[in-house]
Amino acid sequence: MAKSGQHGGNVLQMAEQFDLDPTKVIDFSANINPLGIPPQVRDAIVSQLDCLQHYPDIEYLKLHQSLATHHDCPAHWVLPGNGATELIFLWAQYVKPKTALLIEPSFAEYRRALSRVGCAIDNYVLREEDGFAVTERVLDALHGELDCLFICTPNNPTGLMPDRELLSAIVDRCRQLNIRLFVDESFIDFMPNQPSLSQCLADNPHLYVLRSLTKFYALPGLRLGYLLSADQTLLAEIRDEREPWTINALAALAGEILFEDDTYCQATYQWLAQEQKYLQTELARFKPLQLFAPSANYLFFKHLNPTSSLQHDLMRHGILIRSCANYIGLSDAFYRVAIKSHADNQRLIHALQKVLSHG
Ligand SMILES: Cc1ncc(COP(=O)(O)O)c(C=O)c1O
Repeated sequence: MAKSGQHGGNVLQMAEQFDLDPTKVIDFSANINPLGIPPQVRDAIVSQLDCLQHYPDIEYLKLHQSLATHHDCPAHWVLPGNGATELIFLWAQYVKPKTALLIEPSFAEYRRALSRVGCAIDNYVLREEDGFAVTERVLDALHGELDCLFICTPNNPTGLMPDRELLSAIVDRCRQLNIRLFVDESFIDFMPNQPSLSQCLADNPHLYVLRSLTKFYALPGLRLGYLLSADQTLLAEIRDEREPWTINALAALAGEILFEDDTYCQATYQWLAQEQKYLQTELARFKPLQLFAPSANYLFFKHLNPTSSLQHDLMRHGILIRSCANYIGLSDAFYRVAIKSHADNQRLIHALQKVLSHG
């Protein structure tokens, strides 16, 4: 099991450590849409609970069709999973890469999945002086000995999105060098104007695009994600050999209907546009904090003169933020906060006012 400190969302453990009632802690450490479960999905789950009495369709035909329609691609380019996390591990297990390049800091599960299959990992560490942006420098780090490159767009925890030209150059360079390119777009739904690299799959069978449905649709407890690729050899192999029924019937049901709810998407974009601006403006007022421009539903910042742990100080006010101390390339001066409802965001700002005025 992953150690509890490796991810956000550890409300129970942190509340226990600080002797707090976990239900009173506001969790800014997991980046989940505060609009909650889309109403149509909630209604479908409640009204169709009895589907749990049957095995899910072993082929998940309707789910494949829904995901394929959403991305305008053939259904056999889609591989759904029990959260995006399962697909990171499945991909590594079936590809068995010998050498990988990881852009750091980023999501920790790439490393765990690759290490599990004995893959040697090179780190491409983003530089603070570049604002942690992926720059063209990454193209020089690619070479013919590499089997794969992982890139997270927008990146977690830094929140940065490489520009489209650079991403295209990375896709091309990986194709020339025969490097499999694993692109994690788990947070891209929060960027309505950002095109997905899934549009380039047809010409690039070395490209694998990962999507999560747990963040945008607020379903982290249900577990649903998918991989998109034109690499039919790999996808067919995984489909044939993986364990059956890893996606539960309610998650499959959710995936079959959640793209229909455009009202929820529009409400999410509206909330995010307002609250991203609000939190960015308010956080920028704190002189000890250096803020990095956000692109999705979370903000990344550095505490410039820390005398104590900001995470611990805020916990005393019932607010849990993500310490980025355990990311490669970062330190205990870096933090990430989710963008939440206006009321919660105000609570964060008020708590920071108290904490930083004493710091
Ligand atoms: C960048 C990134 N990719 C993938 C995941 C896994 O998402 P899921 O809940 O779909 O397994 C996370 C979860 O935090 C993440 O941050």
